[in-house]
Amino acid sequence: MRSLFTSATASTVLLLAVSLANAQVRTWDEAYERATADLALLTQDEKVGMVTGVTWEGGPCVGNTYAPESIPYPSLCLQDGPLSIRFANPVTVFPAGINAGATWDRDLIRARGAAMSAEAKALGVNVQLGPGCGALGKIPSAGRNWEGFSNDPYLAGVATAEAIEGMQSSGVQACAKHYILNEQEHNRETISSVADDRTMHELYLWPFYNAVRANVASIMCSYNKVNGSWACENDGILNDLLKGQLGFKGYVLSDWNAQHSTVESANTGLDMTMPGSDFNSPPGSIYWGDNLAAAITNGSVAQERLDDMVTRILASWYLVGQDQGHPPVAFNSWNGGAASVNATTPAHGDISRAVARDSIILLKNTNHSLPLGEPASLAIIGSDAIVNPDGANACVDRGCNVGTLAQGWGSGTAEFPYLVAPLDAIEEKLAGAGTNIITSTTDDAPAGAEAAAAAETAIVFITSDSGEGYITVEDHVGDRNHLDPWHNGNALVQAVAQTNTPTIVVVHSVGPIILETILAEPNVIGIVWAGLPGQESGHALVDVLFGEFSPSGKLPYTIGKSEEDYGTTWTTELSDTFPEGLFIDYRYFDQSGIAPRYEFGFGLSYTTFNYSILAISLSATPGPTTGEIVVGGASDLFEPIGTISAYVANSGNVPGAEIAQLYIGYPETAPSTPPKQLRGFDKFSLVPGESGIAIFELTRRDISYWDVEAQKWVVPSGAFQVYVGSSSRDIRLTGSFVI
Ligand code: BGC
Repeated sequence: MRSLFTSATASTVLLLAVSLANAQVRTWDEAYERATADLALLTQDEKVGMVTGVTWEGGPCVGNTYAPESIPYPSLCLQDGPLSIRFANPVTVFPAGINAGATWDRDLIRARGAAMSAEAKALGVNVQLGPGCGALGKIPSAGRNWEGFSNDPYLAGVATAEAIEGMQSSGVQACAKHYILNEQEHNRETISSVADDRTMHELYLWPFYNAVRANVASIMCSYNKVNGSWACENDGILNDLLKGQLGFKGYVLSDWNAQHSTVESANTGLDMTMPGSDFNSPPGSIYWGDNLAAAITNGSVAQERLDDMVTRILASWYLVGQDQGHPPVAFNSWNGGAASVNATTPAHGDISRAVARDSIILLKNTNHSLPLGEPASLAIIGSDAIVNPDGANACVDRGCNVGTLAQGWGSGTAEFPYLVAPLDAIEEKLAGAGTNIITSTTDDAPAGAEAAAAAETAIVFITSDSGEGYITVEDHVGDRNHLDPWHNGNALVQAVAQTNTPTIVVVHSVGPIILETILAEPNVIGIVWAGLPGQESGHALVDVLFGEFSPSGKLPYTIGKSEEDYGTTWTTELSDTFPEGLFIDYRYFDQSGIAPRYEFGFGLSYTTFNYSILAISLSATPGPTTGEIVVGGASDLFEPIGTISAYVANSGNVPGAEIAQLYIGYPETAPSTPPKQLRGFDKFSLVPGESGIAIFELTRRDISYWDVEAQKWVVPSGAFQVYVGSSSRDIRLTGSFVI
């Protein structure tokens, strides 16, 4: 955004200071030069040890490799995950990926990545296992969508790149995961995902392009099969797509126990096996290690392939400068994780709070009932208002939904150093205001109604949780069984609202829930979507509820009127053929003429924004890319082709931030393309009366489709439609351009 007046806030300056500290230290060429020199010094055993994990729980981290003696290179420490550092404390717990996505804020996403990996580095982690960008999230109930940023590939792609650049700027190798088509938890270790080539490129591979282009050091291949072959021994997706079409120079590591062979996996592009030993077949069996050495001796795997694995792994280590005094591992995952250093800082807490705050999405605000003033009495209702009475970390890997929900469950979680519950923060905020706070901190509907009846206003907290399939929570095997709020949240809200007390609903959820029952209650005057906000949950909520900040988050997915409206759900079949193709989330709603409840990109503010003066200045040659493959794909794929811009003014009475969005409709020469696709966004902070210019910088990819015949990205000729607005359906300006 180019503001017409400068209005950078103190927090923006702070975030930029954190995010811009340390740039990545080397280029791939420099890193490869060093790696190649090292390779010559290594013995065969050392090489095999560098690509093989030391077995589960064989070292302090969730993944560890053998250290060679011939070069100063360590036993690599690989540790989850995408929102913090798992099994270690103290650490800062940041909001989940889906909340980072809901901010649509490039600087914040980068700062979150930089801060979390600064802690990882201090703890001696070499490879931090995140960000997540597959599951992309085609299935609204899928268990791990919240680890990633959005089910829109463009938003997910931008966020993935920012996260990776932030993380690697702190000297830690990022790991984009899970590659690829890992869209559900049910049968995740057996299912075969079959997506057509165009869908693969335009949806699921799209954010991985951004990851590779952002110089991601490593990519984790997933548990599932792709077109019938395991993702970790699949020549098509590893050698052809990732290392071929995308020009990936880092290394592919297996998800934990996702390797199924010695020779196949080596020859099809796997570069590191994790955790080294297999959990199942039979337990303790090792595919690489001595077996890989034997396969090279008998000629089934070429020596060059092992050398390539090692070179990629070494180069990635040099790329982020881990040869320059990277700290030793300072915690042990298997003994409680107490770290010998404390890398948390107040600034990291501020970033966690800023992401949580900026990801809050205001869905409903009848008659400007929010922000709240200082009511004479306020009822706080629901078990989600308080911390789990047994402690915020009472359940392993957050595998329960008790107390306020601030992370999902599974390997992508971490131990809260503290968790600010909504009730605590509200009490703190209203201390001295004379407000009578009446609480009912269970999900019991009659008790909630009693509290509400005694108050001027009620806030009801409801949840919906999900996670990774190795833990089942309240009958949800990772994926959600339904999109309703848990713990009879609908009945709780109904009981409260039917007391005639004006009711605000706060939702902590992993993804969409169906809100129709709640919206049918006329006394529900506000709905505040807070997602999975991490340790600063209550503070961030209070910042918005009481008007210190205007809400600015926008939905990174669609909220439908029913689960059926999405057209996708998880399956118990042996394969998922991805019959919906390109039409997921808003692409499907738009194509099928289904009205969502709250559309993709939607979010209210305490102020209003006026859009004007659309300007389009683009030129591109139609046809396929012609450039050679560089890191991230054909060299001309990301070539700038011009800009689209629009004026945005704060036309209301309070400062606020707007996320202006650009959607593009393709000409019919690109057959069967979704009616509108996100291809740009720009976030503004504007004071009342202030204007800024939203500038959407487009690249060739943004107006291309994947031509399966040509096997290239192609810019179609014809008239493209331009839609600029405040959401995918609140379009304020339209135009077109012809290629
Ligand atoms: C998950 C990965 C995780 C790994 C190591 C697997 O179960 O799918 O995302 O990084 O475990 O904990």
